[in-house]
Amino acid sequence: MELVRATEAAAIRSAPFIGKGDKLAADGAAVDAMRKFLGTVNFSGLVVIGEGEKDNAPMLFNGEEVGNGQGPACDIAVDPIDGTSLTAAGRGHAISMIAVADRGSMLDASSVFYMDKIVAGHEGIGVLDIRQSVEENIRALAAAKKKRVDDMRIAVLDRPRHAQLIEEIRATGAGTRIILDGDVAGGINAARHDSRIDMCIGTGGSPEGVATACAVKALGGFIQGRLAPGSDDEREKGEAAGLLFDHVYEANDLVRSDNTFFVATGVTDGELVRGVRREGEIITTESIVLRSRSGTVRRVIADHLVAKWLDS
Ligand code: FBP
Repeated sequence: MELVRATEAAAIRSAPFIGKGDKLAADGAAVDAMRKFLGTVNFSGLVVIGEGEKDNAPMLFNGEEVGNGQGPACDIAVDPIDGTSLTAAGRGHAISMIAVADRGSMLDASSVFYMDKIVAGHEGIGVLDIRQSVEENIRALAAAKKKRVDDMRIAVLDRPRHAQLIEEIRATGAGTRIILDGDVAGGINAARHDSRIDMCIGTGGSPEGVATACAVKALGGFIQGRLAPGSDDEREKGEAAGLLFDHVYEANDLVRSDNTFFVATGVTDGELVRGVRREGEIITTESIVLRSRSGTVRRVIADHLVAKWLDS
């Protein structure tokens, strides 16, 4: 639960930058706040998945040690803001997130930026396969969920690279939910039992894929990933780091431990969590805390005194 303080802090600190058009400033504020709060948490965390390398954004570095050095040794994946462009534009669905698992259990996919992913709820287990066509996957999942294909809702990042994928989804009769950014929240929504999204597919960040796997394991859902190198150089770097190509990474390959935590706080309003809001002297945050050991999903609504944040 202590980790929530770090995502809350990142969300609160980035809130003044919502809609101000400066994504680096928003990310920088979130990174600083997260790093500071992580320093007080009772664990010895190693950042396996930092974020920002793809566009030189501020980041918590891969290999950086966080926490107060006491308590359990953990791997951690951080994304102080997943949805920096959303935040800068004042759009919904930006979150701040941290995933934690036992030390040595997270796949370090940092040398390859992109990963093809497919995420769904538990009904996808034994049914979905990233090697199958999109149509086969949609039909199989619809049958497993006892839904009509027409009622299926598939989340996809809004990118030119997904034009054909979007056509293929719509050709089945299913509907798309086009997300501008933030496929961690998109994936979690696909894995949740109480969301309108049935599946999240397409190519997004590899670090985001590993973080999503921590959340999906806690939700008992389905995820597969396949690395998608953008160049020969990236493929070589990935191979040197021991990564496998043309290989399907299952949930247990993305994060081996069954002891995972995932926390996210809303920066801007989204389907997963509400964004930071301020009324008078109170700032309110909403977070979600997932724990794989117990399968518990907690929602944490916290009121913070503005005065405490002025010079802390
Ligand atoms: P950031 O806000 O951290 O930049 O990530 C947003 C995001 O949409 C991720 O959720 C997604 O995995 C990735 O970017 C996709 O990358 P790209 O924007 O290069 O297609």
